[in-house]
Amino acid sequence: LWLDRGFDLQLRYSKDRINAEIARLAAEISSDFQGQSLLIVVVLKGAFFFAADLVRELKVPVELDYVTLSSYAGTSTTGTVAIEKDLAADIAGRHVLVLEDIVDTGLTLTRLMDLLQQRGPESLNICTLIDKKERRQAEVEPKYVGIACEGGFLVGYGLDLDEQMRELSNIYEVRQTPGGVE
Ligand code: PRP
Ligand code: MN
Ligand code: MG
Repeated sequence: LWLDRGFDLQLRYSKDRINAEIARLAAEISSDFQGQSLLIVVVLKGAFFFAADLVRELKVPVELDYVTLSSYAGTSTTGTVAIEKDLAADIAGRHVLVLEDIVDTGLTLTRLMDLLQQRGPESLNICTLIDKKERRQAEVEPKYVGIACEGGFLVGYGLDLDEQMRELSNIYEVRQTPGGVE
C-alpha cells in the first residue's frame, strides 16, 4: 500500500513491544503518584494513541487535557513551534504529566514546559514513548522514557509524515523510494 505511494516502511517497534513498554511505564508512574491524581497533558496530534493506551493502564485517577502544538513539515522541524490550541484546564497546584510520542530536537517540549511552568503546577514531568537523543538541540530530560532510539524517521502509532501514516499500529522507519509514485 505505502510502497505504491513511494514509501518504503521497515518495522522498528511492534505493537507488542509498545504494549510492553507502556505496561512498564504505567506501573512506574502509578507507583510514583500513589495516593495522588494526575493531570495528563496530551500533546496533539502525535501523542493521541500513546496517551489512550497509557492512561488506561494507570492505577491512579487522571484528568485529561490536550494541547495542540506542531512544528514539522515533511521530515524536518521548521524550528517554530506553534501553539495551535491551548489547554482548557487550570494546572496551578496540580501534578502535571505531559505525554509525548517522541522527543527529537526537544524544541517542542522546551516551548511547552516553559509555558506550563509559569502556570505554577505542583509538579511537572514528561513521559515520552520514544526518546531520540541524537538530534537534541534543547535541554529536555523526560522522566519516563519508553524506548531510547537511534536515527531514522519514524511513522505509525501517532507519528506522521505530513499527516499520513499515524493510524499504523506498529512503528516503522520510513524511506522515500526514488521509483515511487507521488
Ligand atoms: C512531533 C512529535 C513531537 C515533536 C518532537 O510533532 O509528535 O511532538 O514533533 O519533535 P522535536 O523534539 O524536534 O520538537 P509535530 O510537530 O510533527 O506535530 P504532530 O504531533 O501533530 O505530528
Ligand atoms: Mn507532536
Ligand atoms: Mg508530526
